Amino acid sequence: MKFIDLRSDTVTWPTQEMRQAMAQAEVGDDVYGDDPTVNRLEKMAAERLGKEAALFVPSGTMGNQLAIFTHVQRGDEVITAEDNHIVMHEAGAAAIIAGAQLRCLRSVKGRVDLHDIESTIRRSGEAPKTGLICMENAHSSGVVHDLYYMRQVRDIADRHQVPIHLDGARIFNAAAWLKVDASTIAKYSDSVMFCLSKGLCAPVGSILAGTYDFVERARQKRRIMGGGMRQAGILAAAGIIALDKMSLRVHEDHEMAVQLASLLEQIPGVRVRMEDVHINMVFIQFQRPVNTDELMRKLKSDGIIANPPNNGVMRLVTHYYIDPEMVKKTADVLSKALA
Ligand SMILES: Cc1ncc(COP(=O)(O)O)c(C=O)c1O
Repeated sequence: MKFIDLRSDTVTWPTQEMRQAMAQAEVGDDVYGDDPTVNRLEKMAAERLGKEAALFVPSGTMGNQLAIFTHVQRGDEVITAEDNHIVMHEAGAAAIIAGAQLRCLRSVKGRVDLHDIESTIRRSGEAPKTGLICMENAHSSGVVHDLYYMRQVRDIADRHQVPIHLDGARIFNAAAWLKVDASTIAKYSDSVMFCLSKGLCAPVGSILAGTYDFVERARQKRRIMGGGMRQAGILAAAGIIALDKMSLRVHEDHEMAVQLASLLEQIPGVRVRMEDVHINMVFIQFQRPVNTDELMRKLKSDGIIANPPNNGVMRLVTHYYIDPEMVKKTADVLSKALA
């Protein structure tokens, strides 16, 4: 990569091994169920998550929205933390596609008070009814929810017979932090989406997994969303390497994030939320006003790209293409730029 690109882990390029596998992938028409590489990826993904079946979809957003579309009926409510990706960054899709009403609950980094969840669930016979609870782990704030919390939400959902969808875009990062298999996290939800295209370096694609019945219904609805792809084995070939190999190394990105956070913490005027560095994301807060345009220009002229601070908070994301030398350079450049 030409720049030290810390905007997101979505900026990662496919590895050489992926490019080779893509070039040689066996393919078929996946809408007919004929693509052997897609079929293999879906089988591997289901096994890895401890679910019966899985479906390859073009993006994480489509995976989440397809889950909502499949779980709920039009007009149903979906209970979610107010700061989950489905609320903040999916362009209002739940209202447009599934016709669902998002019931957004106050949250701290994706964690909603359990009492609030239970008291928000609408009893049967009420209109609208609660059709789904959505959780996100790891959360986009960089924190990972513990398994005890997930189990408690599961217990509430079971008491009221409401399904749970997990936005596990970065489930392997969450698993690395919790030191468990991804299936141990996924078992608390009825369906789960994870992304192959973020820290796992595949160029395109996400997985939606659940029961056979759920996945078959989702497969039909994927067509409504225009998500039926033809020779998608070209993409799935990279996804297989992402799942098989890259998912096992995300802890290295977490180590880079901790190193970066520790160096940034030493810069005067910068506060680092060390307690939130669970995965590959570092959030820094400027303790005095900063000229954002100037800061971004200085970083870029030294070969670093990042998203500008939002309300004085800047997010830096490590990934496969960020090494210790780049981490050190980032801290030096930022320190100089803020001096
Ligand atoms: C938590 C979370 N969920 C879902 C998505 C959506 O993924 P995509 O960009 O592939 O649509 C993202 C993307 O950054 C994400 O961070």
